Amino acid sequence: DFQYPHTFVLLGASGDLAKKKIYPTIWYLYRDNTLPRNTKFVGYARTKQTIAEVREKSKKYMKVRPGEEDKFEQFWEANTYHAGAYDKRVDYELLNQSISKSEKGPVANRIFYLAVPPTVFEEVTVNIRNACVSIKGYTRVIIEKPFGRDDVSSAKLSSHLSGLFKEEQIYRIDHYLGKEMVQNLMTLRFANQIFNPTWNRENIASILISFKEPFGTEGRGGYFDDFGIIRDVMQNHLLQILSLVAMEKPVTLNPNDIRDEKVKVLRHINPIELKDVLVGQYVGNPEGQGDEKLGYLDDPTVPKGSVTPTYALAALWINNARWQGVPFILRCGKALNERKAEVRVQFKEAPGDIFNGHAKRNELVIRVQPGEALYLKLMSKSPGMKFDLVETELDLTYSMRYRETDVPDAYERLILDVFTGTQMHFVRNDELKEAWRIFTPFLKNLEENHVIPEQYVYGSRGPIQADKKLADYNFKYSGSY
Ligand code: BG6
Repeated sequence: DFQYPHTFVLLGASGDLAKKKIYPTIWYLYRDNTLPRNTKFVGYARTKQTIAEVREKSKKYMKVRPGEEDKFEQFWEANTYHAGAYDKRVDYELLNQSISKSEKGPVANRIFYLAVPPTVFEEVTVNIRNACVSIKGYTRVIIEKPFGRDDVSSAKLSSHLSGLFKEEQIYRIDHYLGKEMVQNLMTLRFANQIFNPTWNRENIASILISFKEPFGTEGRGGYFDDFGIIRDVMQNHLLQILSLVAMEKPVTLNPNDIRDEKVKVLRHINPIELKDVLVGQYVGNPEGQGDEKLGYLDDPTVPKGSVTPTYALAALWINNARWQGVPFILRCGKALNERKAEVRVQFKEAPGDIFNGHAKRNELVIRVQPGEALYLKLMSKSPGMKFDLVETELDLTYSMRYRETDVPDAYERLILDVFTGTQMHFVRNDELKEAWRIFTPFLKNLEENHVIPEQYVYGSRGPIQADKKLADYNFKYSGSY
């Protein structure tokens, strides 16, 4: 397929996501010659502007290394911009005509990336379907969250989309699925016999999956306040990681076999109960403690008195033979002390202790970011004359082990997957449905009961109640998270 003309249409080309993320991503893919040779890029949005203006706006987000200047010029020569309304079919017909002109040959494929606000999702997809689908090749659409804000709105969106496109044409992005260590989870679990017999309730005490960010909403409060951290990060990114950690081995690596297993494990999870949840919201840091930071409610873009969580911790329970009784703790927050995303698998204490309680649990840490790493905490005899125990690690830190290899960015990987038609790292309709089934009832409950989040200080580790909660779920805190 790669020899035929391809057109990548970026809808919402004048927005933030486009300039900060998508234009740079398609440039890197183009630069590295990974895309079909004959790919044209078309930006589409309401703003009347030239491609030179689009280029100017995204310039500072695109790295051009010495010697790449010519290639960069070529990249922009392959780009055009088309202004049009999102709701007018005639504008899409004009777009279609202009795409068709450059599609020489018997086959031509089209990819539409929707970097548009959710409010125009429906009209944009209808118009693409009616006026812009390829008549001599494939048409694929890439969409970004929010995929609704609860089970009902998400189901409505899904049925809208499935009325227009086949599931094989729809690529729902969860960019965490494009991250190196998230993609490594299946290999780690299913290509290593040492994890095979130990990955279960007999051996594992508790699993913590966390996401921490060291900055707050900072001007993005409008969007964020409508959704909150649970919808923004937990219901998608963290739940996706959970399903890869917990699922059974797929029959093959075929994308649908993998997604079948992900859905299956989600189906074993009961809706989250409010008693298993802790929510928080950050406040400004007190005077004299570092640079002054505004609290969430002090952000002018956040509605007064909002109770939207910026931090959440929730325990999920998987009712199957492998996991019954093992807490899966999802934890995420903004304005915390550090940037980190990781999975911690805590094994049970070795039974029949002969070390007077000095042997700590083994813990497998899968660090997604920053700095991909995999390490296994072990007890060892401290080297030397004494017979003392010491905790140490088998450490696979990527920057040390794979010095020459650059880890590709999640978006680059995922967009390339769309060109090659690989849906393995995209969210299927039924996965999304299960995710909302698990999350909707307690989200409703939080909102209806106007639950006031616990406060935590900007730049701290989160609400102080969280450590107690981790202990309740049999997770032993050892000072570094
Ligand atoms: C996005 C959320 O999906 O993920 C953001 O909407 C969050 O709020 C971002 O900051 C984090 O992504 P990453 O790749 O920087 O961890």
